[in-house]
Amino acid sequence: MVDDFTGIKGLSGKVIVLGVSGSIAAYKAADLTSELRKSGAEIFIAMTESATRFITPLTLGTLSRNPVASSLWNEESSWQPGHIELADQADLFLVAPATANQLANYAHGQCPDLLASIYLATKAPVLIAPAMNGKMYEHSATMENHRVLSDRGVTFIEPVTGELACGYEGVGKLAPISDILSAVSKLLI
Ligand SMILES: Cc1cc2nc3c(=O)[nH]c(=O)nc-3n(C[C@H](O)[C@H](O)[C@H](O)COP(=O)(O)O)c2cc1C
Repeated sequence: MVDDFTGIKGLSGKVIVLGVSGSIAAYKAADLTSELRKSGAEIFIAMTESATRFITPLTLGTLSRNPVASSLWNEESSWQPGHIELADQADLFLVAPATANQLANYAHGQCPDLLASIYLATKAPVLIAPAMNGKMYEHSATMENHRVLSDRGVTFIEPVTGELACGYEGVGKLAPISDILSAVSKLLI
């Protein structure tokens, strides 16, 4: 079922860096980007290489109306490394969908890619919406990473239960876009 968006307003002047990682739910980042932009916020997309296999930078760039960063290594636009510029500019670092791999990187302070480097470099609030297979989500490693990040002040938008793309029924579906929008507005308004 398509989300019934209520829409949020009043984010004019806010900068949201939206991290998109390699989940089957990455296509939902298109609707999320579109709704966030309509809220008046400036949206900058940062994608992992895996995410680009699920949704193109062209789509998210067109919907966000800003250039998309999809590598640590394309940093010709300014003297400052792109990930540091994004980390500094952000009023909010939102990662949706967040893979198990991203949670592990953030929890352990590892930064092999653009998103994890932004996570480590930003002072902005961090909001994470995980999406994955239910067994991956409920694995003690993922649960431990979740706990570490929550203790560190990261806000989670919990995944919901339902039919998963992998064929299983369980917890791990990306939270509805409307829930993600509500969490964004709680942190920024
Ligand atoms: C079809 C397909 C769907 C996937 N969906 C997910 C997912 O929903 N969540 C997840 O954590 N990993 C998923 N993966 C595995 C990730 O893409 C993989 O762990 C990848 O290394 C994550 O990279 P990233 O965190 O840099 O984006 C999927 C892989 C494939 C091939």
